[in-house]
Amino acid sequence: MSPATPRPGVRDVEPYTSPQLDVAARLNTNECPYPLPEGFAAELARAVRALPLNRYPDQRMARLREALADAYDHPVAGVWAANGSNEVLEQLLLAYGGPGRRAVTFEPTYLLHARIAWLTHTEVARLSLAEGFALGEAEIERAVAERPDVVFVCSPNNPTGNAQPIAAIRALAERLPASLVIVDEAYVEFGAESALPLVATHPNVAIVRTFSKAFACAGVRLGVALAAPEVVSDLERVRLPYHLSSLAQAAGVVALNYRSHALAICEEVRRERDRIAAALSTLAGVTSFPSQANFVLFVPPMDATELWRRLLDRGVLVRDLSTVVPGALRVTAGARHEVDLFLKALEEELRA
Ligand SMILES: Cc1ncc(COP(=O)(O)O)c(C=O)c1O
Repeated sequence: MSPATPRPGVRDVEPYTSPQLDVAARLNTNECPYPLPEGFAAELARAVRALPLNRYPDQRMARLREALADAYDHPVAGVWAANGSNEVLEQLLLAYGGPGRRAVTFEPTYLLHARIAWLTHTEVARLSLAEGFALGEAEIERAVAERPDVVFVCSPNNPTGNAQPIAAIRALAERLPASLVIVDEAYVEFGAESALPLVATHPNVAIVRTFSKAFACAGVRLGVALAAPEVVSDLERVRLPYHLSSLAQAAGVVALNYRSHALAICEEVRRERDRIAAALSTLAGVTSFPSQANFVLFVPPMDATELWRRLLDRGVLVRDLSTVVPGALRVTAGARHEVDLFLKALEEELRA
């Protein structure tokens, strides 16, 4: 007997993983460095105790969606949730991508956009962003020429950190009225303007948010779509039955109660991000890119992978993105002591 044959191409891709190492400064996956307070854990425990876990979760996710609608001031019929924003993106592609359909990405950007397109048998046109990584008229022209069914815009963009102009997102939505423009706002709480107001006038815009970054709930796996009711009703058709567990739904409701606490933490994270950017600008030979997210992308004056390894030897784990942006590393704005460790290790390595 021989093993079964997988779908063509499956064995050509590697599993998507990031190192999860027990080091002094874990600055590679843009998580929030601080846990939510004791009160959050206690409230969550109470909520979990009250759950009828012998029953399937509420398939309409009613309480969570109402709480989200309230928090985002968005009609509940246009609110959706799933296991992390990655699953939201996958569901959007299941509904709007698929065989014979095409998605556009603006590169460099979040690697999962093209990967989820591939997973859902959606063709991908990878357009490149010019210097500064901003979405401009030339990029919009090229995107329109591709006649895509789906357009991914990541704002603030991972890994470059810059937010995209709202006018450019509006132009894409207007010039591609039959396409879904997905705006991935995983990092919007760190200081960028949201494209959410566009949804009311442009129902082909879908905003995707996550609880993994600003909400300090990466372990919960909760992502959100804020879109037109028609989009949400399409997502209902492609989602798996009971896709979001009662546990995640309850955690989302509790996390929303701690929203202002989480947003205060964002303030601290922003300060650390700006401290990193300021320090990098003083280091000879280092190029860094302005960021409105909770990370900074930079190109050191030496081999990036070698520097990544040396930083790791000193207990500082950053992300090697040299295959995405030549020579670049990305560092998450962590807690103050982690950023201190990073800056000290970087300075010493560059001096060595
Ligand atoms: C731009 C962007 N979108 C989405 C995600 C996925 O987040 P989630 O944890 O909600 O699946 C990430 C995670 O790093 C990201 O950087």
